Amino acid sequence: MIRVALPKGRLGEKVYDMFKSAGYGVSGIEDGGRKLIFEDKKKNICYFWVKPSDVAIYVERGAADIGVAGKDILLESRADVFELLDLGVGKCRMSVAAKADFKYPKFTDTLRVATKFENIASDFYRSRFQNVDIIHLNGSIELAPLLGLSDVIVDIVESGNTLKENKLVEIESIFQISARLIANKAYYRFNKDEINKIKLMIEKLVENK
Ligand code: PRP
Repeated sequence: MIRVALPKGRLGEKVYDMFKSAGYGVSGIEDGGRKLIFEDKKKNICYFWVKPSDVAIYVERGAADIGVAGKDILLESRADVFELLDLGVGKCRMSVAAKADFKYPKFTDTLRVATKFENIASDFYRSRFQNVDIIHLNGSIELAPLLGLSDVIVDIVESGNTLKENKLVEIESIFQISARLIANKAYYRFNKDEINKIKLMIEKLVENK
């Protein structure tokens, strides 16, 4: 049985629809409710609804064989998994934003950066040789520069509405994000045919979208 970790929420539902169209639907999964595991013994597939930021960990450690995670989660978690396919959904970007009057300090001065993505932010500023003080927050990151907690934020921008409504500006984009199909490395090595069969069917759906 192949075990699939799907990110709970709208993105996960979209991705599940892809699996379903590829012939891997299971009954009961679309009924709502609080159940987290759904399996179909005939189709040999089992899905788990996982918190999106945890998908890479489940797959890396082999609690799931394959999964779907955003590029942001993959880079932040530094999970050691195979990235099989760009699913072309869940598109957004990782960006630096600040108040309109912000100017970068000298790189030897400390820049205060508020973010949920500590590793991404520190890797990015290390590559710039910029001294930083990373302030880890769990949400509503846009508040930090407004209240003087940080100089900039490193966060996800999708429509740009949250920045606009809080009078922040996007200073630069760090990388583009989309959902990726990932696989546990050991599982992939021993079950290439099975995984590639699923990958190919989903790839066709992505191409014909
Ligand atoms: C995310 C992100 C931004 C917002 C960007 O927050 O952290 O705040 O969405 O989307 P937009 O560009 O379309 O406005 P989320 O909704 O996950 O809530 P959070 O503040 O709790 O992280």
